[in-house]
Amino acid sequence: MPVLAQIRERFEREKPLEGITLGACLHVTTETANLVRTLMAGGANVGLCASNPLSTQDETAAALVDRYGGQVFAIHGEDNDTYYSHIDSVCDMRPQITMDDGADVISVLHTRRTDLIPGIIGGTEETTTGVIRLKALEAEGKLAFPIVAVNEADTKHLFDNRYGTGQSTLDGIVRATNILLAGRKVVVMGYGWCGRGVAVRAKGAGAHVIVCEIDPLRALEAVMDGYEVLTGLEAAREGDVFISVTGGRDAMASQHFEVMKDGAIIANSGHFDVEINKNDLDAITKAKREVRPNVEEHLTEDGRRINLLADGRLVNLAAAEGHPAAVMDMSFANQALSAEHMVKNGASLEKKVYTVPEEIDKEIARLKLESLGVEIDVLTDLQDTYLHSWDQGT
Ligand code: ADE
Repeated sequence: MPVLAQIRERFEREKPLEGITLGACLHVTTETANLVRTLMAGGANVGLCASNPLSTQDETAAALVDRYGGQVFAIHGEDNDTYYSHIDSVCDMRPQITMDDGADVISVLHTRRTDLIPGIIGGTEETTTGVIRLKALEAEGKLAFPIVAVNEADTKHLFDNRYGTGQSTLDGIVRATNILLAGRKVVVMGYGWCGRGVAVRAKGAGAHVIVCEIDPLRALEAVMDGYEVLTGLEAAREGDVFISVTGGRDAMASQHFEVMKDGAIIANSGHFDVEINKNDLDAITKAKREVRPNVEEHLTEDGRRINLLADGRLVNLAAAEGHPAAVMDMSFANQALSAEHMVKNGASLEKKVYTVPEEIDKEIARLKLESLGVEIDVLTDLQDTYLHSWDQGT
């Protein structure tokens, strides 16, 4: 993670987070460990808990504590109560900066732990789902401190959501099932940046890709990108593999399970495990068994088998290792610099959801290109003047 490494070196020298307690709720992976080390190098006292019960890499959590003196509250496979007790442990550290992936800490702080709000400078948010929740909180006038929406940075969503989710989702599905994607009908539900990434990688692997999308513009884009676009119900009859990346709920529910083929594989790569309605699936299930790790076969009342991957949780993190370091480098560079920005400027910000300042976004792109050994041209003065003029035409 060369961009993050450069930030860490500067943080070590300048200590921009000295004296700050930072509460992070992120997937506990090797890439996150690198971010935590960077924040600690900047002088922060960091508490880390998991943002999903199935994404914690226990060996990473242990190493962070044992080798780097980190404070981690997470264990792979934790139940709901443990998950929230770990969020509470981070809250007990009285964070001044929050760093969420899905807005669970913010949600706890705005409900059960409001007493901690006066001590908070601001927070950052990693993912689309979290930003949606935070904007809803802002719209109701209830957001209690400023947030930087890291997800909205171009160096985040154009790469992490698209290429990261695209690759790691298929990685999770293939690791769990060992299926050949070539020749299969893969249904991608949702055509945001994650859906675009999953679709293009599935197409590259030789699958026939079907897209389901509720937004007309995005659906049209999917058509012109060369995919078949169907309603969820039509796609349910056709598909072999279903992947939800909608950010919403019930992308797959009773009406879809009723018509799916025998052997259908269903997976979710959206943040929360509500995109596949597991209660609806259980309602038509006669028996279920684990046929491989992360593959639960549901035998339906009418004798079909539907294979649920990773219990409907983020398949890329539960059945694989999440996005590769090369892409998390940019996402977490945004996190580190946004935390620094919040420490410097939080006091003067309003209780709003802000985008990452453009100069941070551009600087991360510049550093990433440099680390890849890619040089780009600079405009000549004449070209620059032309691009800023209104009176130079034919
Ligand atoms: N989100 C997706 N992939 C991730 C990773 N490798 N580490 C942390 N968060 C992630």
